[in-house]
Amino acid sequence: MIPLTTPAVPADSAILAALAIPAVSDIPAAPAGPEIRKKIQKTKILQLSGLSVQFETSLGRVQAADNVSFEIFENETLALVGETGCGKSVVASAIMQLLPKNAKSKGNIEFGGRNLLDLGEEEMAGVRGAEIAIIFQNPSLSLNPVVTIGDQIAEMLQVHGKAGRSQSIEKAAGVLQRLGLGERSLLKMYPFQFSGGMNQRVMIASALMLSPRIIIADEPTKGLDSATAAGTVQEMKKMKDLSGASLLLITHDPALVESIADRVAVMYCGEVLEIGPCRDVFQKPLHPYTKALLDCLPERGLHPIPGASPSMTNPPQGCKFHPRCPMRCTKCSQSPLMKRMKRTEWMTQVELVERVERTTQAEREERTTQVEWVERATQVECVERMKTVDLGTPSGERWVKCWLY
Ligand SMILES: Nc1ncnc2c1ncn2[C@@H]1O[C@H](COP(=O)(O)OP(=O)(O)O)[C@@H](O)[C@H]1O
Ligand code: SF4
Ligand SMILES: [Mg+2]
Repeated sequence: MIPLTTPAVPADSAILAALAIPAVSDIPAAPAGPEIRKKIQKTKILQLSGLSVQFETSLGRVQAADNVSFEIFENETLALVGETGCGKSVVASAIMQLLPKNAKSKGNIEFGGRNLLDLGEEEMAGVRGAEIAIIFQNPSLSLNPVVTIGDQIAEMLQVHGKAGRSQSIEKAAGVLQRLGLGERSLLKMYPFQFSGGMNQRVMIASALMLSPRIIIADEPTKGLDSATAAGTVQEMKKMKDLSGASLLLITHDPALVESIADRVAVMYCGEVLEIGPCRDVFQKPLHPYTKALLDCLPERGLHPIPGASPSMTNPPQGCKFHPRCPMRCTKCSQSPLMKRMKRTEWMTQVELVERVERTTQAEREERTTQVEWVERATQVECVERMKTVDLGTPSGERWVKCWLY
């Protein structure tokens, strides 16, 4: 097992807040109040760069993750959102090195000064649970039905050689208590005696046992009724406060993202198409797919995305969203590059794109590339505004992969 490269994070929200305070001075013009905590997301703890994962199958090669890049900062919640089948869980499995044998991955997953893709199984076993923990979807199926709740949670410490059985059980009891399951008799019960919500808390308790720096929660609310899902969201928030860990929240549910995430990365057909602060992305989505995804929400009119999800074995050439995109133009048959947008720039560009959207399709097609049109308009009308200062912190950056920007 490899040694931890950083000390465990204290499991106390007050201590965490106190520890975080000095960093505020680094941030120019940081807003007061709860915003301060959100702005303290400066230390990068995980960096994915150009991660690609392919599966060889009898039906052909599945490009499940295609050049995926994003970072996770300390103490933040990053949501990875997108339709079912777009590659979210594959990214999580790649980070944990839990991909099946028919998978080939390349790129870089930098964590603690190492590329996780280069680690052997023994080293990776030391990372899993201790430094990066994962909570799988459907806790009732993930838990072992013939092992008591107490032993399952305690196992995390024992497997990593951190404590003996009785000490581990004591710690498990303490963690469960903080999650609202303080009755000691619960430790001797089995998962089938628990409700779905209680089992979810057992999974969370297991993830918290070793104070990992990152917790990945893969579709924590999928298949739950709305009351249990709402409870799970509260548990997730509590989990973050208790642990001080960063959370990578994987979901197909934008409403969940809005309620919990600091930043959001939008994934489509194996690619990340947009990344930005949650509030900005929800208020002004830049990528046409992000817009379409949000328009599916009931409060935004329940508009389904036209067309079907693309094939992962034979994806569309160029921009993979182009067959479904109302904004496509001739240039979209080539693949766009991910572009970093300054705040002033994206606010300006989004207005222009909205203006392009209001023109008819015929009008748009007349312009050889609407991109050129947007670019020209940007130069002429907005040069002054673009000179204003970009106040974005590193974690406040916005990135978008679309020819419109
Ligand atoms: N073991 C596997 N073999 C072949 N294809 C797989 C395997 N696991 C996942 N895939 C494919 O990879 C794509 C992404 O899957 P996944 O990450 O599970 O999607 P999501 O979590 O976004 O719903 C899907 O097309 C899925 O069929
Ligand atoms: S690159 Fe073109 S097709 Fe793709 S999302 Fe942007 S406008 Fe639409
Ligand atoms: Mg999944």
